[in-house]
Amino acid sequence: MTASILPAAWYTDPSVHAAERRTIFAANWALFGPEHEVAAPGAWRAACVNGWPLIVARGRDGVLRAFHNACRHRGAAVVPDGAGTAEQLRCPYHGWTYELDGALALAPRFGPLERADHGLMPVRVATWRGLVFVCVDAAAQDLMAWLGAIPGLCAPFPTDAMDYHGTFTVEGRANWKTYCDNTVEGYHLPFVHPRLTGAVDPAAIRIVPHDGGRTVAFHVTYRADGAELRGREGLWFYRFPGFQATLSASAFKAERIEPVGAGGLRSTSWQWFGAIDGAARADGFAWARAIVEEDLGVCATVQRTLEAGVFARAVLSDEVEGNVALFHRLVHDAIGGIVS
Ligand code: FES
Ligand SMILES: [Fe+2]
Repeated sequence: MTASILPAAWYTDPSVHAAERRTIFAANWALFGPEHEVAAPGAWRAACVNGWPLIVARGRDGVLRAFHNACRHRGAAVVPDGAGTAEQLRCPYHGWTYELDGALALAPRFGPLERADHGLMPVRVATWRGLVFVCVDAAAQDLMAWLGAIPGLCAPFPTDAMDYHGTFTVEGRANWKTYCDNTVEGYHLPFVHPRLTGAVDPAAIRIVPHDGGRTVAFHVTYRADGAELRGREGLWFYRFPGFQATLSASAFKAERIEPVGAGGLRSTSWQWFGAIDGAARADGFAWARAIVEEDLGVCATVQRTLEAGVFARAVLSDEVEGNVALFHRLVHDAIGGIVS
């Protein structure tokens, strides 16, 4: 048994949340969404990710780019959150107009202005397996280096031929770390997820940390009665701080976890399916959401305890919660020097 190195207050303190955005979420890649949504020249999509309003747009030259969705005049959103197709992007406030490569094309009636200095602020963007990732830190490692062990782990699970099914978002009343503490351990599975536990062989789950705990892989074997839908083998993985996915022969789900203040989080998932029928797809999609809701339900009660101010520190099992300790070490290493 070890004591958690993260104090309960780090799950509730707004200054810790602010430090985490600067040092953890800015420095890492975040899942933005499916690449097929921005496939055509002129297609754009805007969303707020980890508190940063962003635009991802496909230029007429076919190049995918990302920008802060902040007009260089006085900061209005250049486009509303959502999606569209455009020749140019025009801010609705005073009409400043940008090319899809971010260059400022027009600043009506403004007077003298160095247009080259007032393009949209770029954000890094890269793709892997049909997923768009973004990173607001120009100095961060590139996406493939950041993914580390993940492409190799996923190699037995091809997803190219799968069909996109849909997306869902669930808001949780818990700090993002409360949810990630839960995500990296298998201890809770039989208690919180009875249907999921019934679908896999509990004795055959192997949980393996990679890259110092930045990635935690769950290798699972589905029971024979459900295996005709999914295939026999499955992979669930988490990548610090806010990306996780599940893969099998017939399903692929990618999820973004993001903080919403100190006491909230947002989980957004995108789902693809392989060769299974419509009823099985509908069931699999609803089930994926139910699993997220089961986790967020118990996490909300943990968060309530942490916010009550009576609970100093969790205790962790060396047997089954070693990856929670690794997760705490990553958080501590990132912000331990700047918060107390
Ligand atoms: S804030 Fe965009 S044109 Fe003024
Ligand atoms: Fe869970």
